[in-house]
Amino acid sequence: MNNFAMIILGASGDLTKRKLMPALYSLHKDGRLTGGYSILGIGRTPYSDEDYRSYILAELRQFVKSEEQSEELMSSFVSHLYYLSMDPAEAEGYALMRQRLVDLTGDEQPDNLLFYLATPPSLYGVVPLHLKKAKLNSPHSRIIVEKPFGYDLKSAQELNKIYVSVFAEHQIYRIDHFLGKETVQNVLAFRFANGIFEPLWNRNYIDYVEVTAVENLGIEQRGGFYENAGALRDMVQNHLIQLVALTAMEPPAVFNADTFRNEVAKVYESLTPLTEVDFNEHIVRGQYTESGSKKGYREEKGVAPDSRTETYIAMKLGISNWRWSGVPFYIRTGKQMPTKVTEIVVHFRETPHQMFHSAEGKYPRANKLIMRVQPNEGVVLKIGMKVPGAGFEVKQVMMDFSYDQLGGLPGGDAYARLIDDCIQGDPTLFTRSDAVEASWRFFDPILRFWKNNQDAPLYGYPAGTWGPLESEAMMQEHGAEWTNPC
Ligand code: BG6
Repeated sequence: MNNFAMIILGASGDLTKRKLMPALYSLHKDGRLTGGYSILGIGRTPYSDEDYRSYILAELRQFVKSEEQSEELMSSFVSHLYYLSMDPAEAEGYALMRQRLVDLTGDEQPDNLLFYLATPPSLYGVVPLHLKKAKLNSPHSRIIVEKPFGYDLKSAQELNKIYVSVFAEHQIYRIDHFLGKETVQNVLAFRFANGIFEPLWNRNYIDYVEVTAVENLGIEQRGGFYENAGALRDMVQNHLIQLVALTAMEPPAVFNADTFRNEVAKVYESLTPLTEVDFNEHIVRGQYTESGSKKGYREEKGVAPDSRTETYIAMKLGISNWRWSGVPFYIRTGKQMPTKVTEIVVHFRETPHQMFHSAEGKYPRANKLIMRVQPNEGVVLKIGMKVPGAGFEVKQVMMDFSYDQLGGLPGGDAYARLIDDCIQGDPTLFTRSDAVEASWRFFDPILRFWKNNQDAPLYGYPAGTWGPLESEAMMQEHGAEWTNPC
């Protein structure tokens, strides 16, 4: 690759040190960044190039897996880093940025220029306008924008308008790092590279689907951000709904950026609009409270003592189309749960008739397919088998495929995969403007309902537990229950 340059706006922030630099180091280590490439960090904290390199080197030692650390490679990687201290919110600095870019690449318009917007979301609207004014938006440039893209439908539409006035849609990469995860991509391979499941993958054979993405950490140092986001904006509107889309989408005729993203957008557009009944009965929000040594959300730094921001949400969705009509999709996410797990559980319908018994009485007659995104990455199918011996006693057992059997997960993480795709100009795993808007269109009414009904329930749950009991009650009307992995 000739003349590749990347400009990270927000280079002194948390995302850059935790995710972006380790990902770029991994691309460097794997020989994916070649030639005399340059990475220019932009941030308000003052650093010289040398100081910035030392700072990032120290962070790499902390955030890169120890087996992937090589002092030699890390030093050669940081030698490609440069830093310019400026406020990305103010137009003045952009002429300097341009000059610095020319100095580094010897070119007004490098062949491959990538901007990464890792600033607070409040700057997502102004940065592209400043880039345009400084004539940095060349046709050879691309921009990656972190989530959340917008705060609601209106702000997402406004952002989209700004971005398309500066870049062409094919230059805009709205990142959702879940799509960079191997096991999320594997949902597609599992569905569309195997003939045996597809005939069953519909309302005739599937009873309900669960999508869970929960974490055992709190909000850590992100109180300021989280207070304005909450679980719906932080996880549901993007990550969880992507998982729903991959589970529910139709197979595209060929696999490319357009066809894949068309099918994702179609799922979002088919989500059954929410009604008053849904707001009251099919959406449960919670907030973690103090438990043992764990702080409650309202005690976290940067959080208001009377905050009503949700750290947990569970809800029931419907997809109004031929394949999924009548099949509930139950989704949930939460902070301070007993464990960190992301998985999709597909519950097939029960056998029509019970012939056998198990020692525990009735044996479970429904098969379950669990696609484990993380941890213990793999796929599990639960099936009934005869217990050896006299009689016909049946027990559910697990057919368990674990990624370890393929030699473990490839080293590269989600960010490395996605940044690499962007450098190669492949937008398949990035969110298109129509999908972002369709997703907001669906979730917006919930935000409005909460805003207009300040007394709508927000249930407390002790940190370290599975969330409000009301979320179990929500599933009981379907005879369903959450699958809680241990
Ligand atoms: C981020 C959210 O997008 O995803 C975080 O902002 C969350 O709040 C994180 O912790 C979870 O991602 P992962 O890859 O650790 O499951």
